[in-house]
Amino acid sequence: MENKNILITGGAGFIGVNLAKSLLEKRNSQVIVYDNLSRKGVENNLQWLRSQKYKNLKFIKGDVRDYKKLKEAVKGCGEVYHLAAQVAVTSSVEDPIEDFGINAEGALYVLEAVRKLSPGAVFIFTSTNKVYGELLHLKLKEGKTRYILTEKKKGVSEAESLDFHSPYGCSKGTADQYVRDYYRIYGLKTVVFRQSCIYGEHQYGNEDQGWVAHFIIKSLLGRKINIYGDGKQIRDLLEVSDLIRAYGAALRKIDKAKGEIYNIGGGAENAFSLLELIAFLKKEMKKEIEYDFDEWRPGDQKVFISDNTKLKKELGWSPSVSKEKGIRKLIGWIENNIDIIKRVNKG
Ligand SMILES: NC(=O)c1ccc[n+]([C@@H]2O[C@H](COP(=O)([O-])OP(=O)(O)OC[C@H]3O[C@@H](n4cnc5c(N)ncnc54)[C@H](O)[C@@H]3O)[C@@H](O)[C@H]2O)c1
Repeated sequence: MENKNILITGGAGFIGVNLAKSLLEKRNSQVIVYDNLSRKGVENNLQWLRSQKYKNLKFIKGDVRDYKKLKEAVKGCGEVYHLAAQVAVTSSVEDPIEDFGINAEGALYVLEAVRKLSPGAVFIFTSTNKVYGELLHLKLKEGKTRYILTEKKKGVSEAESLDFHSPYGCSKGTADQYVRDYYRIYGLKTVVFRQSCIYGEHQYGNEDQGWVAHFIIKSLLGRKINIYGDGKQIRDLLEVSDLIRAYGAALRKIDKAKGEIYNIGGGAENAFSLLELIAFLKKEMKKEIEYDFDEWRPGDQKVFISDNTKLKKELGWSPSVSKEKGIRKLIGWIENNIDIIKRVNKG
C-alpha cells in the first residue's frame, strides 16, 4: 500500500488540507489533491500546502463530474478519500440540481473510477449527520441556553432511521448509500463516516457552513452574528485532527471497517449550543459580541450528539481534543490569518 498513490478529492478544502498535511508528513506515497477550487478561500489552503515544500504532493485542478480526468487521477491509488462536495444546505435549497450533480452523481463517478481502475483501494467517504433528518421524535426539554436530551442515551447511533431532509441531506445521503452498497455489490473496501460538526485550522467558515469558524471571524471583526433559530440548538464539536485519526484507524483495521458506517462527533462532553459558544467566545476573546435571531433553517436539528460507541468498540477511537482547547487553537489560527480571511469574505 505504501508505494501506491493516495487521492483526496476536495483536498484543498478545510478537512482535505488537514488530511493532506497529515498524510504528506507521515507517508512516502504520492498524495494527489484533486479539487476544482470552487469553495471561496480554498486556493489559500492549496497555496499554504505548496509552501510547505512536500516532495510527494501533486495537485490536479479537476471536477468530480469530469469522469475522464477522475479516472486518470484514480489510476494506481491504494487509498481514496472522497471529500469533494457542495457543502451548504442553503446553496442546495437554491440550486438542488447543481447540488445533486456534485454530491450524488460526483460520488458515483468516483466510485466507478475506483471500481474500474483501483478496485483494491480503501475508499473513505465523508458523509454527514444530516442523513438522520430533523430527529423530531427525540425527547427534549428546553433549558436556559440549550435543548437537553431527556432520553437515557448517549446520542444518535448508526441504528437511527435515515430521514434525508434538505437537498443537501438527500444528495449526501444518496452518496452515503451508494458508497456502502459498493462494498456489498462490488466488494470495494468502503467506509462511511457520518460526521457531526467538524472545526479547526484552515476552515474558511461562512454563514452557510462552518459555524464555529464563522462565529469567531465575526466576533474578531466586530460584526453582528445572525442566529438561525433560537440559538439553543446543540452540536457536538469535533476537532479536525481527531477526525483524521479516525480515518487512520479505519485504514489500519480495514478488514473490520470495510462496508461499515460510523457516526463520529465530539460526543456529549464536547457539545455546545450556539448561545453557549458565543458566551465562551466572549470570555475567551474578552469582547462584546452582538447577535440577532432569524428564522430556523430547513431540517435544522435541535439536538445532535453523536453516539461514538461503535467507533470506540470496533476501531478503538474516541475524541481526544476538548472543545475549549480546540476552539482556542482555531481562534489563534484565525487571528494569524485575518487579513486573508477578510479578503475572502469581501470577494
Ligand atoms: N465540516 C463539517 O463540519 C462537515 C460535517 C459533515 C460532513 N462534512 C463533509 O466533509 C467533506 C469536506 O467538508 P469541508 O468542511 O472540508 O468543506 P470544504 O468546502 O472546505 O471542502 C470541500 C472541497 O471540495 C471542493 N469541491 C466542491 N465541489 C467540487 C467539485 N465539483 N469537484 C471537485 N472539487 C469540488 C471545494 O473546492 C472544497 O475545496 C464534505 O464532503 C462535507 O459534506 C463536513
